[in-house]
Amino acid sequence: MTVLVTGGAGYIGSHVVRLLQNRGEQVVVIDNLSNGIQERIGDAKLVEIDLAAEASVQTLKDTIKTHNVSAVIHFAARKQVGESVERPEWYYQQNVGGLANLLTAMRETDVNRLVFSSSAATYGMPDVPAVDEDILCQPINPYGETKLIGEWMVANAARAWGLRGANLRYFNVAGAGWPELADTAVANLVPIVFAAIRADQSPKVFGTDYATADGTCVRDYVHVLDLAEAHLSALSYLDRDERPHATFNVGTGTGSSVFEVLEQVRKTTGINFEADLQPRRAGDPPFLAADVSRIKTTLGWSASRGLDEIIESAWAAIS
Ligand code: WQD
Repeated sequence: MTVLVTGGAGYIGSHVVRLLQNRGEQVVVIDNLSNGIQERIGDAKLVEIDLAAEASVQTLKDTIKTHNVSAVIHFAARKQVGESVERPEWYYQQNVGGLANLLTAMRETDVNRLVFSSSAATYGMPDVPAVDEDILCQPINPYGETKLIGEWMVANAARAWGLRGANLRYFNVAGAGWPELADTAVANLVPIVFAAIRADQSPKVFGTDYATADGTCVRDYVHVLDLAEAHLSALSYLDRDERPHATFNVGTGTGSSVFEVLEQVRKTTGINFEADLQPRRAGDPPFLAADVSRIKTTLGWSASRGLDEIIESAWAAIS
């Protein structure tokens, strides 16, 4: 089986590419290398295009036919929440436009299996401790909106022409399965904290007055290797199950506060740093953790790595 992986040179995508290669699958990567790194994908074929460009449909169709692609995993998208607020039109053009081009190419080449990289950002600020996939999604930023619209596009393709898709809603991904595949973007809590302490600075904590156990925000941190394994489970599910499409939370089901993450970083690094306590950051829900019963029941997947392994693997990758 040949799997087309868009965004396969990225942090999460390259972990999935590596697992597919280790399993003996043929992999073709679509990536514009704006954030991706070609060295991450080994001997996988790279087709360097901007998925959102009009001309990409024909290139995608040619690639699918040339390599006899039978399934697609779609990661390629912009994913910075703050940037999406500043540049909403570009986020829609890139994330929604890119997916529209991909679905067009898949339909016209009769490829009907898709694993779609969605996000917990689709939930917005739910007021429940653990979100399940059926609660009302009310994203609070353009990034989350583009991911929810992407899920609607997958559902419409399922109805219109029989696409069988699995939407994976990622919670907070961190860690490294292999040091060379570590997250090089300093855009989320764990890499931001590492960058601060390596520069002998105090990491900022956005808000200590939330209605949580220690006053800081709680998130569901999931190891990138666990997340990558969930993609392979979803791919197998699309082989097995005739249901047109489904949506799955991908998390651990447990939450960790910002202070708990910082304490784990102190234990792992041996650096006894102070935190710089700041006011709340706009748009932060106090608590966001996954109800992971559906993915466990339907795909037989559950996370096997905890916060300690997440922090240890991420720190080892940059030490
Ligand atoms: C985590 C917590 C911050 C930085 C992201 C994106 C998106 C999505 C989910 C995939 C928050 C706090 C952060 C800092 C801090 N993933 N924080 N000091 O906002 O939960 O969401 O992950 O689609 O990538 O939506 O992630 O890492 O920015 O913040 O206190 O310097 O850490 O307030 O509570 P977030 P994050």
